[in-house]
Amino acid sequence: MHFGVDYYPEHWEERRWEEDLLTMREMNFNLVRVGEFAWSRFEPEEGRYDFTWLDRFLSLCATHDLEVMLGVPARNVPAWLMAKDPTAAIQAFEGHRESFGSRYTTCLNNPTLRRRALALAEKLAAAYADNPVVTSWHLDNEYGDGSMCYCDNCRTRFIGWLKDRYASPEAVNKAWGLVFWSLEIRDWNQVWLPRKINRFPHNPGLLLDFRRFFSWTTEEFVSAQAAAIRKHSPGKAVTTNLQSMTRYHADCHRLAESLDVVSLNFYPPESYTTADLDIARGARNRNFWVVEQKSGPPGFAHPGFLTPRPGETRLYTYASIAHGADAILYFRFRPCPYGQEQYHMGIMNYDGSRNRIFHEIKRTGEEIGKISAAIEGTEVRNEVAFLYSYENRWALEHYYVHPDLEYRSFFLSYYREFEQRHIGVDVVNPRSDFSAYRLVVVPLLCLMDDRTTQRVAEYVRKGGRLLFTARSGVKDNNNNVVPTIIPSVLKEVLGIRIDEAFALKPGQKNRIVTSGEREYQVSTWIDLIRPEGAEVLARYADDWYRDSAAVTRHRYGRGVAYYIGTIPEGRYIETELSSILAEAGVTPVLECPRSIWALKRTGSQGDVIFVLNPTDGPETVSVKGRRFRDVLGGSEVSGDLELGPYGVRVLMV
Ligand code: GAL
Repeated sequence: MHFGVDYYPEHWEERRWEEDLLTMREMNFNLVRVGEFAWSRFEPEEGRYDFTWLDRFLSLCATHDLEVMLGVPARNVPAWLMAKDPTAAIQAFEGHRESFGSRYTTCLNNPTLRRRALALAEKLAAAYADNPVVTSWHLDNEYGDGSMCYCDNCRTRFIGWLKDRYASPEAVNKAWGLVFWSLEIRDWNQVWLPRKINRFPHNPGLLLDFRRFFSWTTEEFVSAQAAAIRKHSPGKAVTTNLQSMTRYHADCHRLAESLDVVSLNFYPPESYTTADLDIARGARNRNFWVVEQKSGPPGFAHPGFLTPRPGETRLYTYASIAHGADAILYFRFRPCPYGQEQYHMGIMNYDGSRNRIFHEIKRTGEEIGKISAAIEGTEVRNEVAFLYSYENRWALEHYYVHPDLEYRSFFLSYYREFEQRHIGVDVVNPRSDFSAYRLVVVPLLCLMDDRTTQRVAEYVRKGGRLLFTARSGVKDNNNNVVPTIIPSVLKEVLGIRIDEAFALKPGQKNRIVTSGEREYQVSTWIDLIRPEGAEVLARYADDWYRDSAAVTRHRYGRGVAYYIGTIPEGRYIETELSSILAEAGVTPVLECPRSIWALKRTGSQGDVIFVLNPTDGPETVSVKGRRFRDVLGGSEVSGDLELGPYGVRVLMV
């Protein structure tokens, strides 16, 4: 298990380094990430590299037995590069060039930036390939964050990308439907970028393809940067940090293909959720690293409410591990009194003195020492998959049918129900192999290409259980509406036809009544379902479409497909999911109160179960009839488990 911290040697006078490294050792840290923003120090002038300061830092790390994950800058360029080529600045949606002076303001399609960044990557890799202290590489930071670019370099590459994807301008006209509002192109040079228009939106097909292109730009750059590193430094893991579901111009599933290990930032509970951990694991279906684990209130200002309460930092560290993290690096060691993040707190105080978080992480480090043998080689194996797609998210951002149908919150409304039932889920890309799961959930996956619909059908036909929600499958790969509301293949699978589909006004409600006479409120979206072989599980209770089917269940091949054609209140899924889970044979990790998280990692020595209390009050979990070994406490556990606020238990059978 890697356990450590993000550190910026370039922020401190060298005489501080040793004192900081000694403190890190005292905390049981074994890995330090450095360098991702240090281009102006690595290459103070074009072509003049200076790694002497890094050499001194690395030799101190060697003395103190700390490994280093070395950052390879790319997007935060030094001032000389901007002076040399001002067109390296992003041209924003509104038309202006982004100013120098912050971060993520440059364009990866700029040839100067690309040349210089890849040259720097090669220099660093060549210099440290044989240095045993450097054990992994971290590419820049948070690829996919920042603004999209609409510059002429991007346009030229976009045209090239379109040429590869579509045989001719006519094919683009057809795919995007450019005859609408007379937008057809006759020549590649007539391709335009979806820059700002004051009123009325751009074409949906163009918007989605531009997002795909922009993501490809990032994927392609990351892959080139990874190749530059591997050319000189083969065998050392290459990674970069993905972010939460909230911020992305890059398809992280595709981005992950160039990496040896997927990494993630994790700043819970506000902007990050545990689903982000599952997305990181699902990107390669393997354990992952958390390279920025929150250790103090983050941000540029100082919103005090983001301060972790006592126990929270430890709890979320275990949440990361329970979801499959094999590395935890805290962000950050010391707060930096200057610069844009001057209010970003960390493990230490500004003056290097120790604070509450220091003691909490020190304790956590001692505990991790105790559990690392038990979790060594274990992985997370789940029986339920959620399909999640970045392209779908982009499509929904541009064109939505109701302001309340927002992808992340909709996804989380289902995800949280599984979490509260202590059923681990894998969040996977629709392109991945989901055939072995007992249950596949497809929440608000509007955009489904033919291959995905075929694979979903195949999954059910061969015996899978499918939970399919309203507004899934309603758009094709070109971001165009499916004329039959849902694709014909899925009509077969679900055993339904949708006669009419419409939105309710914000705040407007209806009710559904189940075949068992249970009643729930619904809002936002209404599908009027005509069963064609499916059994009706619930019908609308009010308004002119009263008695029309709202929820169905259909046997297809050897499997079963459920369709929820409206947006029921939370209580619906909370109650009705039980029978779906029972039918699929999915069972919880442990029977616990809903507020508790229970997760497990599995290995050759058996299961390691994490019981976590994310609340600020005490909780009791009954494990009557079972016996466990408490890995942290060393004792036998049976009967009741008491968990204090943000309490943690790690159990083995
Ligand atoms: C992350 C970023 C770090 C730092 C941190 C502040 O998203 O990677 O460099 O800015 O946020 O919370």
